[in-house]
Amino acid sequence: MTQDKIQAALAYYEAHYNDLFTEFLTFLRIPSVSTADVHKDDIRKAAAFLVSKLNELGFKKVQAYETSLHPIIFGEYLVDSEKPTILLYGHYDVQPPDPIEQWETAPFTPEIRDDYLYARGASDMKGQIWATISALQSILATGELPVNIKFIIEGEEEIGSPSLDQFLEEHRDLLRCDLVLNPDAGMLAPDKPTIIYALRGLAYFEIRLFGPNADLHSGIFGGVVGNPANILCEMIAGMHDDQGRVTLPGFYDKVRELTAKERDDLSQLGMDEDFFKKITGVPALEGDSEYTPVERVGARPTLDVNGLYAGFIEKGAKTIIPAYAMAKVSTRLVPDQDPQDVHDSLKAYLEANTPESVRWELEYMSGAPAYINEGQAPGVKEFIQALEATWGVEPLRKREGGSIPVATAMKDILGVDSIITGFGLPDDQIHSPNERVHLPTHKKGVEALIRFFESF
Ligand code: BES
Ligand code: MN
Repeated sequence: MTQDKIQAALAYYEAHYNDLFTEFLTFLRIPSVSTADVHKDDIRKAAAFLVSKLNELGFKKVQAYETSLHPIIFGEYLVDSEKPTILLYGHYDVQPPDPIEQWETAPFTPEIRDDYLYARGASDMKGQIWATISALQSILATGELPVNIKFIIEGEEEIGSPSLDQFLEEHRDLLRCDLVLNPDAGMLAPDKPTIIYALRGLAYFEIRLFGPNADLHSGIFGGVVGNPANILCEMIAGMHDDQGRVTLPGFYDKVRELTAKERDDLSQLGMDEDFFKKITGVPALEGDSEYTPVERVGARPTLDVNGLYAGFIEKGAKTIIPAYAMAKVSTRLVPDQDPQDVHDSLKAYLEANTPESVRWELEYMSGAPAYINEGQAPGVKEFIQALEATWGVEPLRKREGGSIPVATAMKDILGVDSIITGFGLPDDQIHSPNERVHLPTHKKGVEALIRFFESF
């Protein structure tokens, strides 16, 4: 019976693939960049697009809820109060496309090359939203949903989900569910379906140094006036020791160590030096040599400069002591670090290490603790079976180095664990130029989702 329903839904998906794909392209053409004010209207267009799609699928209570920034979309399709309720998460915002000149084709003009579809958001995560919508449409068009579905799709994930906690707190009843499926992550390779059981957290800062009242002639004043650019570089350099460890006071105090068993499990994943070198093109890796690469990205905290600004950065030479220097610095956190502790620690570091010749400012931009799923979240068993039936292999379990703040927020506020997964690949170039999605994997993802929903 269930097998027939699965086959009917799969057949529908095959038959209507082109129509669904055309709609997916329309979604990708909307430049819903959450961090840029100029895209506020595009964010709204993306929200409206999803509202109309959920309505078309027959969802009820579909609404774009206003927040202090970008709307959060909710919709539900309830079939039977005796059946479990799955809350599906998505985010319709995307990262800025910069550096735009490095795209082979325009970021918001999707193009197919080989097995890939290129566009900003194709993988992270409009493609994942589209996979869930495709699966639901295929089931609804050929029968009834076997399970209750709720959708929450936010527009601020790529900027740290600032409005989400309040929304979760104010809509606990609306969001009541038995399990969360969060497909904002990915798999290790096209033939390696993956379930993520831990995500790193994040604490993001901007550090600003102010020197003289204005940019100065570096000949007249060099040697007596402190240079904010020099000083900032020194301060940043001091944030790591020569082992690649972060020096902020107390940074590792609460870090949960890996068990021998977990180290062994992670070592089986094949994420070795060559794996990282091949994807990134770097000739050698960096980091704390006491941990292997797979451990360093999944289970160890890091500190990185994400952007730097100081002085004259146009073409040519200009001899100045800049008045100002700025760095965007983020830390990736692991269980049981607290983003607020990192804030305090960075403050203490700046207090101790900034010379009197400059004034400093520190802004805490966003933060979210890491997520780890220690037990077996409800639905994981069914999800593993769906992946296995689709790919014919047992799925991998891994930790993910990226962050999805909503997973922790849902655990803390709604009390539910998330199944974290997705059908993106490590070389999808998310957040980079030429983001893409591997279409054969995307299609298999839809198949797995159909099987998953049908398993209830
Ligand atoms: N989809 C990513 C998270 C991710 C990245 C999962 C790689 C799996 C593999 C998500 O959209 C993202 O980029 N999150 C931000 C969160 C931040 C802005 C709070 C991140 O990790 O930088
Ligand atoms: Mn994402």
